[in-house]
Amino acid sequence: MIESLDLRRRPRRLRSSPALRQLLTETRLTPGDLIYPLFAIHGANQRRPLPSLPGQAQLSVDQLAAEARELRALGIPGVLLFGIPARKDDEGSENHDPDGIAARAIREMKDAAPDLLVFSDLCFCSYTGHGHCGIINRAGSVHYQPNLPEGYLLNDASLEILARAAVVHAEAGADFIAPSGMLDGMVAAIRQALDSQGHSETGILSYAAKFASGFYGPFQHAADSAPDFGDRRSHQLPPANRREAMLELEIDEAEGADMLMVKPALAYLDVLAAARSQTRLPLAAYQVSGEYAMLHAAAANGWLDLRRTALESLIAIRRAGADFVLSYFAKDAARWLGE
Ligand code: PBG
Ligand code: ZN
Repeated sequence: MIESLDLRRRPRRLRSSPALRQLLTETRLTPGDLIYPLFAIHGANQRRPLPSLPGQAQLSVDQLAAEARELRALGIPGVLLFGIPARKDDEGSENHDPDGIAARAIREMKDAAPDLLVFSDLCFCSYTGHGHCGIINRAGSVHYQPNLPEGYLLNDASLEILARAAVVHAEAGADFIAPSGMLDGMVAAIRQALDSQGHSETGILSYAAKFASGFYGPFQHAADSAPDFGDRRSHQLPPANRREAMLELEIDEAEGADMLMVKPALAYLDVLAAARSQTRLPLAAYQVSGEYAMLHAAAANGWLDLRRTALESLIAIRRAGADFVLSYFAKDAARWLGE
């Protein structure tokens, strides 16, 4: 019986020893492929643990210098900064205050570790009282558009504050501005503002294909950015639509983005793979808060091995086409990879 089979092809030959498996590894993951998200708060000497993101904390500005040096020592090339403001208002004005949390945090990190890349998230949702990503249509406000519904996220008015905040973040020293609001024209508006203010060297990492996802839940706690009414479906992508995501990526590239992002990561690997074959720009994927929290929760129950599943997820994201991954696992992964 067995003698009659054709077993000339035996792929297992290539998996038979650690040395062979090492030699034939197609995708690699190093600390240099990871960017670490950080939440900055005002004040001193504070590390406020985030219950929904085990192991992560909001850090006061003075703690960022030590954090920056630790990250460089681990071989992690950069951070993605989120600011938690002291005051919120309708237009998120602290985001473009040169003494606001974003500008202060950026300066602190660049002072402490000039070679650490700072990607600065530009969204307004943690800066606005209503928790939306820009200016909301409200009767009585100067931006009111009677032809649009009450509560609608106004695109063009929001671009103006986005552009203004981008210049402030660039002035503070951000290497890359990362607009995450999924507004039409956001990349073009930011590029024009940066160039006209002498910041042509500041780059743009666009959250180009960002889906309206339930996986952002833990983040909205961490950044205090949950909307107090409605949701983000008028601007973020419908989870069912890959072609629409490709269009967003194409438009942001045409508007001058230096790098593109797909977000979330694990549930959107097909989008990532398609993006990889569509663009020649560097491609990032964001392993978001819910992806991190899920693995932690399962591991805490003894259902999964955290290290193994975290590294497996990261390599899968790289395999699908991401040049680099924004991940809350960045520090742990860097340590694990070094062992
Ligand atoms: C702000 C923003 C969000 C995330 C990054 N920037 C949340 C949202 O759009 O509701 C999510 C990150 C994460 O879940 O880790 N627009
Ligand atoms: Zn937002």
